[in-house]
Amino acid sequence: MFVGEGPGADEDASGRPFVGAAGQLLDKMIGAMGLAREQVFICNVVKCRPPGNRAPEPEEMAACLPFLEAQLGVLRPKVICLLGATPLKTLLGLSGITRLHGQRQEWRGIPVIPSFHPAYLLRNPEAKKPAWEDRRGEKLRA
Ligand code: URA
Repeated sequence: MFVGEGPGADEDASGRPFVGAAGQLLDKMIGAMGLAREQVFICNVVKCRPPGNRAPEPEEMAACLPFLEAQLGVLRPKVICLLGATPLKTLLGLSGITRLHGQRQEWRGIPVIPSFHPAYLLRNPEAKKPAWEDRRGEKLRA
């Protein structure tokens, strides 16, 4: 299961997560891992698009958390990949994606791998290689 931040304009229009440019990169990453998009579940922390595409406010993340927890509780994914700082903060209460990416965590007994958000990777292509290494979840804790 992949957890992003929140719907952008393309996602809002289609009602599906990660269908824009970041979604196309996420599709490539999932494909490179040998998986099809149909084999994974993709969702977001916040369920509505924040006005002007701004980052979600803490109250918005908190308001949506019960829905995310319900999705996780029903699906019980084998692994949760957190895409960027927002899901890392919301689900695990942790800050510092630059430090924590690739370090395996746990949510209620399910392994969690924090990694970079694909939109960040589009802006910072040099982070693609370390993000690819994250799939192992073997980076040692700093
Ligand atoms: N960015 C996200 O965090 N989620 C989406 O669904 C699309 C872009």
